[in-house]
Amino acid sequence: MAEVAILGFGTVGSGVAEVIDRNQAQIRRDFPEGIHVKYILDLRDFPDSPYADRVVHDIDIILNDPEIRVICETMGGKEPAFTFSKRALEKGISVCTSNKELVDVLGGTLAVIAKEHCCSYLFEASVGGGIPLLRPLRTSFSQEFITTIVGILNGTTNYILTKMERENLPFEDALKQAQEKGYAEKDPTADIEGHDPCRKIAILASLVTGGNVKFKQVPCEGISGIDTMDMEYARQLHCKIKLLGVCRHDQETGKVYVRTAPYLVRHGHPLYGVHDVFNGVLVRGNMVGDLMFYGSGAGKLPTASAVVSDVVECVQNAGHTINIGLSNSDADLFDPMDWEDRYFVRIRKQDLVRATELFGSEIRIVVNENAPEEFAFVTPLIAERDFEEKVKQIPSFMKSIRILKN
Ligand code: HSE
Repeated sequence: MAEVAILGFGTVGSGVAEVIDRNQAQIRRDFPEGIHVKYILDLRDFPDSPYADRVVHDIDIILNDPEIRVICETMGGKEPAFTFSKRALEKGISVCTSNKELVDVLGGTLAVIAKEHCCSYLFEASVGGGIPLLRPLRTSFSQEFITTIVGILNGTTNYILTKMERENLPFEDALKQAQEKGYAEKDPTADIEGHDPCRKIAILASLVTGGNVKFKQVPCEGISGIDTMDMEYARQLHCKIKLLGVCRHDQETGKVYVRTAPYLVRHGHPLYGVHDVFNGVLVRGNMVGDLMFYGSGAGKLPTASAVVSDVVECVQNAGHTINIGLSNSDADLFDPMDWEDRYFVRIRKQDLVRATELFGSEIRIVVNENAPEEFAFVTPLIAERDFEEKVKQIPSFMKSIRILKN
């Protein structure tokens, strides 16, 4: 049996143990030797757990055991996860993780250390939970230039937006329901302000370009400013509002544009129909065209299943590094202020003439009978820099939402 250790016995960590035990027969189809959890590292004890006798509190017990082949890092956060992962990789022990925060900040560093020590650093579970996404990107797409990744990468906010749209609920009420269902945390900031999907699109952009894109370099906006009136306008435009991670990679310049923000998604687009707590990711290759990945982007067992898929790949590839195409250099980022989008804009009635002067007569006006004092319009394609300059000159400007191009 290949011996593994789990660092952090929380939701995902306990799920990893469960997947390995319950699906041992399935694992043995691809890896006949089988996989066994030898240690669980946690600060706590779990006296009532069937794994109680495997719990240790000292990382050195794990790192000094020559039988350990893979570590599942499901602790989250930067430290001590980084130090433990680094020490494991330096000993030639592969690391599989769901820790998107660490992957975003230090994934490139850990991937390089893994390569130097003939082992692997894999993080399938860090993006899209149970959806196989990173593995197809680095295997089935070797021959492709990936031009676009656009994804609904956060289940909690997709649930909130779905509730707001279908039941006409204010944001606060939909958030409360998401918390009651256990989707949103007590402190929901990382989800509703877009930090979680922003980390995920940063990881995807890094993999697509082979250079590091860090969360902090990516413009990030969440959904806390979306209201029921926006939903009403979206309906009139035959669109749905979705929180998207967007990555556009230009083959000629090699530059990459990355953003997380709410977008209006038109009826007929593959992401239009991704509802509730589900994730959906559209990947466009220059030869293969559009592919959609859809499924559970969160949850104990789907996320743990993705971690275990990495463990199986690591034990199958013992003694050499699985190339994930991630280096320690920086990606060449497109200046987001130069990026062109069409915008949906809400203003008060008195500024209609001003809006037409600024944006041209081709703006599309959207009237809302439920709000007679205001209206909205859709701009032609315009660079963000120019858009910001123009809306500053509209005294009653209320808000804008980008419209997804394609
Ligand atoms: N909170 C995330 C979501 C799951 O709602 O999708 C973990 O990435």
